[in-house]
Amino acid sequence: MEIRDLLRLHGQEKLLRHYESLPADAQERLAVQLRAVDWSLLSLLGGENHTNPRGELAPLGALELAEIEKDRARYTEAGIEAIQAGKIAAVLLAGGQGTRLGWDKPKGTYNIGITRPLYIFECLIRNLQDVTDMAGRAIPLYIMTSDKNNADTVAFFEEHDYFGYGKENVRFFVQEMAPAVSFDGDLYLEAPDRLALSPNGNGGWFSSLERSGCLAEMRELGVEWLNAFAVDNVCQRICSPDFVGATLLSGSDCGAKVVSKAFPTEKLGVLCLEDGKPSIVEYYEMTDDMITLRDDRGELLYRFGVILNYLFKIESLVEISNRHLPVHMAEKKVPYIDEDGNFIKPTEPNGFKFESLILDMIHMMDACLAYEVVRETEFAPVKNATGVDSVESARELLKRNGVTL
Ligand code: UTP
Repeated sequence: MEIRDLLRLHGQEKLLRHYESLPADAQERLAVQLRAVDWSLLSLLGGENHTNPRGELAPLGALELAEIEKDRARYTEAGIEAIQAGKIAAVLLAGGQGTRLGWDKPKGTYNIGITRPLYIFECLIRNLQDVTDMAGRAIPLYIMTSDKNNADTVAFFEEHDYFGYGKENVRFFVQEMAPAVSFDGDLYLEAPDRLALSPNGNGGWFSSLERSGCLAEMRELGVEWLNAFAVDNVCQRICSPDFVGATLLSGSDCGAKVVSKAFPTEKLGVLCLEDGKPSIVEYYEMTDDMITLRDDRGELLYRFGVILNYLFKIESLVEISNRHLPVHMAEKKVPYIDEDGNFIKPTEPNGFKFESLILDMIHMMDACLAYEVVRETEFAPVKNATGVDSVESARELLKRNGVTL
């Protein structure tokens, strides 16, 4: 279809003004981007509250710390065995924009050290090395980036010699992008020949892994399970043998590390059952009852929050790979060019980005083992520069865990 007709069909005639004034090569660049747009996303605009309807929710228990302690040696042994057999790979989700931190480079390149450089990526590699040292073999590490941060991320790892992890053990793959739109549903341009695109959320990780050829490669290597984790939790243990072993022994097709909520209204997604299947409910979706009800031990009924550290069986991920994840819309400050071609950097949200989320994959699994970890040793997310979940709070936790900053 002619690009003009495509734009008219989707009510995006405003873009024609820019398109028609462009030289042929720039028109071609923009046309390629426009043809790749998933126009079905625009039909979500105007939907109710941009949330997806929920089924019947019920609490889901976890394997709690006291029980884990009794069996930790057995879990660890099973995990080490799986790692040594090459069945486990790690997938670092690092395609996000980290806007809250206000660091315009990839979040993993942020230096959290005080008296010496200590980069977020370095913390994660060190944590993984604890396990590879214990198992006596490397764990393949796949790093998801986006078009916006791939070059900087790869260059950073090269510059730091992969922090001693071995370049041969690391692969990068790039996630997909989605258009950003105004509140009225108009696509934004960030340059006359370029759409304003954002990474399409961490839910696209598995399809991007497949499209990149990395999935085929890892299956050839005999990998059966993937530990997917976020870039910003500097204390998390990655591919922890006890967690891996417990999940494998449980017979579930996935495991999720969870922490006990610090207080009822803490902003954590909570692992529960939805229509009898595992599911994660975001803190803003919880009713007052879900937030406050307690069991006969006096513990919160919906007590276990996820920390974005999941172990998935590849076979199950392949089975669900043709199913669509729900798309979430988030308000966002989108830099754009206005009708006269002036570049505008908004100070307030001026539109939506579209994202799918890895947490929605949990509901597609048959069973999920909720595995409790100690928040003081494993949960130090760096979302903001100061305050809650910040550089400051993560530094405190790193220090308490004996890391020199
Ligand atoms: P966040 O939800 O913290 O999003 O990502 P973000 O984009 O990094 O940060 P803000 O909201 O702009 O401040 C949780 C994890 O998912 C990854 C992030 O890199 C982080 O590890 N992620 C997020 C992706 O890999 N791709 C995405 O499109 C979004």
